[in-house]
Amino acid sequence: MRHLLDIQSLSQEEISEILRLAENLKEILIRPIPKVPTLRGKLVLLLFYEPSTRTKFSFERACKVLSADTMSFSAKGSSLEKGETILDTVKNLYALGVNLLVIRHNLSGTPHFLAKHLKIPVVNAGDGIHEHPTQALLDLLTVKEKLGTLSGLKVAIVGDIKHSRVAHSDILAFQKMGSSVYVTGPAHLLPEPKEREFFEVKSGGFKVCYKMEDALKDADVVMALRIQRERHGEPFIPALKEYAEIFGLTPKYLELIKEKALLMHPGPINWGVELSYEMEKYPFQVILDQVENGVAVRMAVLLRFLSGD
Ligand code: CP
Repeated sequence: MRHLLDIQSLSQEEISEILRLAENLKEILIRPIPKVPTLRGKLVLLLFYEPSTRTKFSFERACKVLSADTMSFSAKGSSLEKGETILDTVKNLYALGVNLLVIRHNLSGTPHFLAKHLKIPVVNAGDGIHEHPTQALLDLLTVKEKLGTLSGLKVAIVGDIKHSRVAHSDILAFQKMGSSVYVTGPAHLLPEPKEREFFEVKSGGFKVCYKMEDALKDADVVMALRIQRERHGEPFIPALKEYAEIFGLTPKYLELIKEKALLMHPGPINWGVELSYEMEKYPFQVILDQVENGVAVRMAVLLRFLSGD
């Protein structure tokens, strides 16, 4: 593995290895001084062309715990405004001594393009509607920690599946680890029949459901997604209020899912839309556990590429 570009190209063994490492690294985070010198002298470039709170800051936190230095790039105020290309930008920053690039971009495939032209590892922090591999890894870690296994589970994902890079990575990741993934949402936001083959991984199972009940019934894990309005080419239909009434997760759905089923969300959340306000009090809601596990997973990814053994 030279880069982390997507879940699609990771084997079950590679995913398990990252999860094992992340589980072990969590011990460092609860020390009185959560810092080790392992990546001292390494420089990580955080190149975020789209807004981010969780991903950007957990990469930064992971770097700090491992003693790597970071440089954060902001498109505004850079020579991109004078017409410099992204490839030239990254080549120039590489010349400053960068050892690893973390990139988020609105265009699907940008990390893959840069990986072809750079000698350093490239980590995809979310590319357009394509994938968000470190999010899927932290989701796997959270479920494994809470339920003890990733095998034989029913994972239901609700919402704008078509435009969600988190959904795309999770659909592949959970199946690779032996779970079945059921997706549901407004029909026009579900994968087209011709796209569905891409999401079918032999070891798991993948199903598109037009009824919420079919996806949620006996689910072990339920993940709600934000409507990706910024990626919709046309005015969003239905309106958010209608969406909330039909597809928003409310306590009435709790009787369908398994007792103690986990409730997840990658964030940012629109409370009152994809999750009703009451769901914050659901005792098996693990949304901030996901955020916490993001640091350990990103530490594992950084170590995998930069520690040299
Ligand atoms: N889950 C996630 O990618 O959140 P951010 O957009 O805040 O990084």
